[in-house]
Amino acid sequence: MKVWIDGAIVDGNEAKISVFDHGFLYGDGIFEGMRAYNGRLFRLEDHMRRLGVSARAIGLELPGGVDSVRDIVLTTVASTGAREAYIRLLVTRGQGPLGVDPTTCSDPRVICIVDTVELFPADKAASGVDLATSSLRRPSADVLDPRVKSLNYLNNVMAKLEARRRGVDDALLLNAAGNVTEATGANIFAVCRGVLTTPTATDGVLEGITRMTVIELADKLGIPVRERSMGRLDLLGASEAFLTGSGARIVPVRSLDTELIGEVTPGPVTTRLRAAFFEFAKLNGTPIPYADCAGV
Ligand SMILES: Cc1ncc(COP(=O)(O)O)c(C=O)c1O
Repeated sequence: MKVWIDGAIVDGNEAKISVFDHGFLYGDGIFEGMRAYNGRLFRLEDHMRRLGVSARAIGLELPGGVDSVRDIVLTTVASTGAREAYIRLLVTRGQGPLGVDPTTCSDPRVICIVDTVELFPADKAASGVDLATSSLRRPSADVLDPRVKSLNYLNNVMAKLEARRRGVDDALLLNAAGNVTEATGANIFAVCRGVLTTPTATDGVLEGITRMTVIELADKLGIPVRERSMGRLDLLGASEAFLTGSGARIVPVRSLDTELIGEVTPGPVTTRLRAAFFEFAKLNGTPIPYADCAGV
């Protein structure tokens, strides 16, 4: 594991931040979770675009601009030599005195962690995950817009804890109106009467890059797709469902609140899209400049 921090690439256990970093003190910062497949950074430009939007949303200036951040990502991944990796990019408000005032922090801090991640045990890719509807609601856009990928993940953390205590893999979060939003770190899709359906972004979901890719691939494969408001019943009546995310990739959902979804897990649409996704990820993406980093 390698980490870019404060201008240098170090081993994971040497990467340290000040306790006065407002990212640590207040969750004041933003992040991206990305993957490298087959030596290519998957949808790097989309991640950079979303990072830029998150930065604007919280009034944070990316140090050196997006070009510098992109270089940091590519250089750090290249330094590991890894062709498959999970990359966690963070930009915190930086160090400052106690007190939430972000104007007291003058130097945002960029951190890039190159590691691996397993959101669910590997066998769940075949058996599917079990979800429970959370008692917590996803915050609305006027509280903390879920479209901003911020370091404030306590809503997700608490929902995950509740799900784990109930003995299931993950939580399904609804919004204040009772519409389906997403799981704690992944978007959700369901096949409803033959239509691949996913909650609309304005219902309070992160606009996932895996979600976008799946929508594009479904279009190419001639699978009808619709983004719309969804209720729990849409999931319970679906013939199949799955989660998408850079960490989770594509993982089938077996049940919601102990009710099985569909007759087989994974269902045929999930299987088709998973195969298309991994094929696409292998061949697309920004090539990682390994040679430039020999000896780093
Ligand atoms: C809350 C939440 N929703 C959805 C996603 C999936 O987004 P992406 O496909 O861009 O990784 C994530 C990924 O981290 C997430 O944290």
